[in-house]
Amino acid sequence: MSETKVQTRPDTSDGPRHVAIIMDGNGRWAQMRGRPRLFGHHAGAKRIREIVEACPDHGVKYLTIFAFSTENWKRTQTEVAGLMALFRRYIQREARDLFQRGVRVRFIGDRIKLDEKLVTMMDDLELMTAGNDRVHLTIALNYGGRDEVTRAAKRLAYEIEMGRLSHKDVDAETLASFLDTHFLPDPDLVIRTSGEARISNFLLWQSAYAEYEFIDTLWPDFTRAEFARVLSLYGTRERRFGAVKA
Ligand code: FPP
Repeated sequence: MSETKVQTRPDTSDGPRHVAIIMDGNGRWAQMRGRPRLFGHHAGAKRIREIVEACPDHGVKYLTIFAFSTENWKRTQTEVAGLMALFRRYIQREARDLFQRGVRVRFIGDRIKLDEKLVTMMDDLELMTAGNDRVHLTIALNYGGRDEVTRAAKRLAYEIEMGRLSHKDVDAETLASFLDTHFLPDPDLVIRTSGEARISNFLLWQSAYAEYEFIDTLWPDFTRAEFARVLSLYGTRERRFGAVKA
């Protein structure tokens, strides 16, 4: 078997271009303070701005955050309703600031189960920020990796059924073009806060060669300084994408 050329980054000081974050630990953060879980989610939402703002300083062009998974509907009705209200409030409060800071916002996930008003707000924010290019913020809302691949496969099958595509054309690139993330490069680094070492159905396809950092800090305590520290760890990694060192 021939050895493929190693695809390491040319300079180890290079940071990741696309960082994805599983913002975990809001509930525990609130419980530790004797407050309801939603208090933690509100604190978590406030953290996002600081991290988005830090991205250009570190050469991070794409930031993808996991806000609500396809499994999160199993939480209590109070928590789900509170989170949905928080998403609406976040868009309402942050839209102008995001726009002015040159952030392009896009959402991934299945919108079908989401409240119509929220979906309209998501569409409007995407439209409003479509011309921005400083940082690309992607918010995963009612997102699940398996669900995303299933929906992509269904749409692909439909295209074949309609005769617009042949099964012979189907390769990894074709399938990826049907994913919610078709406009994004693959993540270089996935961070999960709160000490849990799971990927919880996040960007399953896209993270095939991502580096992972599982850190103990609960999301509402995740600061700009901690973000910088985690990014610096990435600089010590050597990515080989399945190849061997030359
Ligand atoms: C996981 O913590 C977090 C979530 C399920 C929701 C993430 C949402 C936010 C950070 C805030 C809102 C986001 C936006 C985009 C406005 P958990 O509740 O599972 O915490 P636990 O593991 O301590 O219970």
